[in-house]
Order: sequence, then structure tokens, then C-alpha cells
Amino acid sequence: MRTPVYELHIRPMFTATDRDHMIPRSLNLWSYDEVVEHAEKILELLEDADPNRTMPPPEVGGPWPQEWIDLFRRWKEGGRKRLEVGAAEITVKRTTGAVTIKATGTFPAAGYQGWLQLESESDTAKTYVLYFEPPDAPVAGTAGAFELKERYRATDTRTLFIHDSTGVQEH
Ligand code: HEM
Repeated sequence: MRTPVYELHIRPMFTATDRDHMIPRSLNLWSYDEVVEHAEKILELLEDADPNRTMPPPEVGGPWPQEWIDLFRRWKEGGRKRLEVGAAEITVKRTTGAVTIKATGTFPAAGYQGWLQLESESDTAKTYVLYFEPPDAPVAGTAGAFELKERYRATDTRTLFIHDSTGVQEH
């Protein structure tokens, strides 16, 4: 069964409203470290049947369906996996038809996967993040080389940013 991963399966269950309302109460739900630190209490409140205590509160769309709570528990009890932000050489090719982003390099170890994921977008900008997913358990062998591509239409002329382990750069 697929191991749940914070960035792919857990963080998207927390809405921007959840995050915004909990930040003043010292819990940033889009922070891996903070969700790990408070995972026990979060699960307890997600499961609380009392409408005055359950999180998220019923006035803002709570409670979660049982499947989401089960997924959170499986993540919490199954290694609390997260992604890594990778390092690569990035090139961007612009033709009349398409913008092609290419990330090349070598994974940190055998068994890794990687991809470019659209992290955020606005009317004027789009930002891709270079994600690496480690294997669930160490894999024997040498680290593989990668060439990851992402392409979109050239009619999309928004400013392109790429987030990798060196930070966020305009391309
Ligand atoms: C350590 C875990 C948590 C604690 C101790 C906690 C505590 C609280 C407290 C004391 C409030 C104020 C209650 C009120 O004014 O009625 C609150 C509000 C809120 N919490 Fe949490 N919470 C936790 C986790 C969560 C989680 C996991 C979510 C979302 C999945 C969430 C979403 C919200 C929202 C959206 C509000 C604002 C409600 C409103 O303004 O109407 N909280 N939380």
C-alpha cells in the first residue's frame, strides 16, 4: 500500500482557513515539523466527537470524513514520511509552441524518484518545486541519473520560478 507522504497526502487536507486560524494559536498546519510535533493532539481533536472540541470546527467545514482521519493516523504511525527538495541543473527552453523545463542530475541514493511539481501560481507567476521522494527503505545499488521534464504552452507567459535546494530562482 502506498506510504502516505506529508506534502502529497497530509498537507492538502489542511485548508488555507485551517492554517490561517491556527497560526495565531501557535500551530502552522503547513509546517511538517510543527504537525509532527503536535501529531498526537491533532489526531485526538480530529477524532473528537464533541462539536465544541473537534478540529476543524463544524462552522468552517469540519469534521473530516473518517477516511481522512484514518489516512492521518496511517501517516503518523507509519514513519511520517516527507519529500525532499532536490538539487539539479535546470534549463528552460522556450519555443513558439512550448516552454520546457528540464532538470538533470543524480539522485542522492538508489531508489529515489523525482519530479517537478507546480507549487503555486498567480495571474503573473508560477512556481515549480523539484521534489525528490526517497524509498521507504534503503535500496541497494548506486544512485541513478535523472532527467525530469515539465512542459506547458508558450501562450502561458507568466514569470517562471523554480524552487530547488538552492532556493527559489527566476528562469
Ligand atoms: C494541536 C491541535 C489543535 C489544537 C490544540 C487546536 C486548538 C484550537 C482552539 C483552542 C481554537 C479556538 C476555538 C474556538 O475559538 O472555538 C481553534 C480554532 C480553529 N482550529 Fe484548531 N486546534 C488544533 C488542530 C487543528 C486542526 C488539525 C485543524 C484543521 C484540520 C484546526 C482548525 C481550526 C480552525 C479552522 C479554527 C478556527 C475556528 C473559527 O475561527 O471558527 N485546528 N483550534
